[in-house]
Amino acid sequence: MTRLWHKGEPLDQVIERFTVGRDPELDLRLVRYDALGSAAHATMLARIGVLDADELAAVLAELGAIARDAEAGSFAIARADEDGHTAIENRLTAVLGDAGRKVHTGRSRNDQVIAATRLWARDVLCAQLDALCATCELLLDVAERERETMVAGYTHTRQAMPSTFGLLFGATADALLDDAPWLQQAFAHIDRSPLGSASGYGVALPLDRPLVAELLGFASVQRNTLSVQSDRGKAEYLALAAAAATVTDLSRLSADLILLSSDEMRVVRLANEVTTGSSIMPQKRNPDVLELIRATAARLRARQAEVGAVYGSLTHGYHRDLQLTKEPFVEGMQAALDALTAIQPVLRTLEIDAGRAEALLSRGIDATDAVYQRVAAGEPFRSAYKQVAADPDGATEGMKAGAGWRARTHLGAPGALDLGPSREALGAVRRWVDETSARLEAVWQRLLPS
Ligand code: ARG
Repeated sequence: MTRLWHKGEPLDQVIERFTVGRDPELDLRLVRYDALGSAAHATMLARIGVLDADELAAVLAELGAIARDAEAGSFAIARADEDGHTAIENRLTAVLGDAGRKVHTGRSRNDQVIAATRLWARDVLCAQLDALCATCELLLDVAERERETMVAGYTHTRQAMPSTFGLLFGATADALLDDAPWLQQAFAHIDRSPLGSASGYGVALPLDRPLVAELLGFASVQRNTLSVQSDRGKAEYLALAAAAATVTDLSRLSADLILLSSDEMRVVRLANEVTTGSSIMPQKRNPDVLELIRATAARLRARQAEVGAVYGSLTHGYHRDLQLTKEPFVEGMQAALDALTAIQPVLRTLEIDAGRAEALLSRGIDATDAVYQRVAAGEPFRSAYKQVAADPDGATEGMKAGAGWRARTHLGAPGALDLGPSREALGAVRRWVDETSARLEAVWQRLLPS
């Protein structure tokens, strides 16, 4: 098999290796989606008379076989093929002859790769939102169960005021619920059809771009053919921003749990089934999963920066530079999904030692609540603060250590934890995921029924 643009002259091997890069491997994940995009494109070509009915039927059947092979892991992309788009066209041509040779009419690999990537990204974003919902559900369950379990609240990693595990786990749930619209916005941005823009300047054929968009279940056509190309890096950058924000919220909780489950603190116990061992120290159970979530968040922020750096300095029109945004995008989005999934067994199995949390309270932790007892009795805040500061031990004498969180009952405070609005927000995201995944599944049934 060979490159689509091959004109008989050999290509320097070093140049081939360098220009092809990791495409054969990365494109393997996109082949199914490329076949789907090609099915919509071919259907449209038949409507405008480029393919006849028999040719279309043969092309759709072969694209279906390609998608199934890709799913089964038996579709190969050789380096001599350059990329997945070439491997697909070569197979269509080998099997179908002229019908295969017609499929690339009215498109370029430049809009083809964007279509395949967007179709893939819609699925991944939907799966991320699905995993976000499952994770939120678990967080809210722990928050509910531990709503009255006191734990020191920290600032500067120093004990600050008594708080609850309900507040801590509820905070992560709310943070993730804040991330959901970012992911949905990235989805909406990506949910526009790039097909028919070709290399950025259209072609001299009456392409029916809205039909292709409709067949692929895209919400609309991305109109200006040149803007489609400029959007390749930008759309990836936006989606990675959303994914990075989401995993960064998991990273924060992970860092807390690493600390709270340390040998010194032992407030949280991580189940053996979610911790890993050491090859040298027989006694160890390590929180590797939480450390890798933390590192995944860091890496996602770097992957976003990488995409921004590559696409940000180009002129209009396709540039091969854009091929290099594929790796940080595809691998970053997959890693975010994996992190959102990996936190779930941790949350499902973690145990909290309330007695230990109480035993770890520092002497001064009730000082602020002592100030507010005086404020409640009419003393000006600054005077009360100074009184308590002069003799913190005396000022907190008689107070039940750590119980002060109960008196903080205004909206959002630990003494009035209301998880209802969070559950409502979660329900709305869940409905979006259910509707969207059904809509995406229908596209496959319509174009490449299995
Ligand atoms: N692998 C290429 C990419 O990801 C496909 C497009 C190649 N287009 C080209 N004109 N060389 O960008």
